[in-house]
Amino acid sequence: MKAHITESGKKLVTVIPGDGIGPECMDSALKILEAAGAPLEFERCLAGAEVFKAGNATGVADATIESIKKTRVVLKAPLETPVGYGEKSANVTLRKLFETYGNIRPARELPGIETPYRGRGLDILVVRENVEDLYAGIEYMPTPGVAQGIKLITRKGSEKIIRLAFELARSEGRKTIHCATKANIMKLTEGMFKRTFEDVAKEYTDIEAKHIIVDNCAHMLAKSPEMFDVIVTTNMNGDILSDLTSGLVGGLGFAPSANLGSEIAIFEAVHGSAPDIAGQGKANPTALILSTVLMLRHLDEFEIADKIENAVVHTLEKGIVLTGDIAPKGLKPSSTSEFTDAIIENLGETAEEMIRRERKPLKLPNVSTDPVMVSAESKRTVGVDIHLDSDASPATLGAEMEAVAEGSSLKLKNISNRGAQVFPLKEGFTDCVDQWRCRFMPRAAGAVVSDEEILSLLAKIAVGHRWLNIEKLNEFDGSLGYTKAQGEE
Ligand code: NAI
Repeated sequence: MKAHITESGKKLVTVIPGDGIGPECMDSALKILEAAGAPLEFERCLAGAEVFKAGNATGVADATIESIKKTRVVLKAPLETPVGYGEKSANVTLRKLFETYGNIRPARELPGIETPYRGRGLDILVVRENVEDLYAGIEYMPTPGVAQGIKLITRKGSEKIIRLAFELARSEGRKTIHCATKANIMKLTEGMFKRTFEDVAKEYTDIEAKHIIVDNCAHMLAKSPEMFDVIVTTNMNGDILSDLTSGLVGGLGFAPSANLGSEIAIFEAVHGSAPDIAGQGKANPTALILSTVLMLRHLDEFEIADKIENAVVHTLEKGIVLTGDIAPKGLKPSSTSEFTDAIIENLGETAEEMIRRERKPLKLPNVSTDPVMVSAESKRTVGVDIHLDSDASPATLGAEMEAVAEGSSLKLKNISNRGAQVFPLKEGFTDCVDQWRCRFMPRAAGAVVSDEEILSLLAKIAVGHRWLNIEKLNEFDGSLGYTKAQGEE
């Protein structure tokens, strides 16, 4: 990824001032960048509430998209989706459009910020997959009382984020990566992420690679957060864990973030537009300023990044000019612009209590763009699940499905409801809903199921039942590509 260099030799950045406190925080960040002598030029662009209200349902103006394609680097303040406009947020539009697959959230202890963990030297980097998982937004309602979402995890998506995490660790001189998953329960989806981590880790022998179950990760973050260096994880886990790590070091007001893709990088504060304090000069711009520090490092401007970071940390450790959200009792809160001026005055100072790292330019991973990233020599369909909408009892439905399959090459293996086998009846108390999964397998052990057999069975079922969807049960090179229901043998 190369920055766009202007005629005057500066690096061009797309700036989105955003909504609520966004413009105030952005003014502060840009003033500091200028005062620090950052060799940058800016293109101010629109996204968020104003764009939605102008009738653009994506929340991102076309000119903004053109600017980003050119500059490849974005500094963005929080955006709002006003009620009644747009189905998707402008943030999601940007994330999807530019495939910023890596959400990077550093959480580092800052001086003068009171937290129960103060003094423990926390400096954790959460690397969250940002595109896949339950956030792919693939949701359905098969019946009025049942909603389901697809948890999409791919080898390619996992490999990209995991390689990025290892490269980030190398660029920051970090020693350990924990991969946090729920692979013990979601064996295929979270399991794919874990297996990819284990494979990729073999290429990074200089970094210690450990797996941790995500709930235990949350537990250990509350108990002994200093044991963590880098955490790489899937989208949903990362959403929660990265807010948790921000909380450990003082809250979202101090949390910067980078959204990295192979082509484009977007830097932003984690907090929202804080409409309750917008336009009052009360906003704390620290998170956006620290996001500019991440951006400068991304642009290989290490010295200026360090200069701004030192000035911010020094201002916090002096503890004289602080915004209302962090000013201790008895200290008159300063305005956003007073706080900004104090940081500018401190440019050139060296912070005493700052955790420092030797940093090298980040090498972005190069993962194949081939759609078929993992191929198998043999792909066999060994059964089929047919989902039905029915208010019948498991016993009645079971008898009906057995009768429908009579005389065909497929036989009913079982019916499950909410993931548990309910026919043939097992012990238990499954509270059933009107969505049923009927699993059909070939009568001849080890046989392959053809499309004709599936379609013929489906046609028979459709005569008396409302079918919802079908799922082929695949076997790839002998490995099962599906899971069994609770209680299924
Ligand atoms: P919020 O982060 O805007 O505010 C939560 C609380 O924290 C409020 O009391 C606010 O005053 C305070 N706060 C947040 N940032 C602050 C700062 N820099 N200085 C001082 N106080 C600060 O979260 P909320 O209220 O849930 O969301 C407000 C709007 O922001 C919503 O429309 C939401 O969709 C949007 N949002 C946008 C994000 C983005 O663009 N990346 C991220 C999160 C929310």
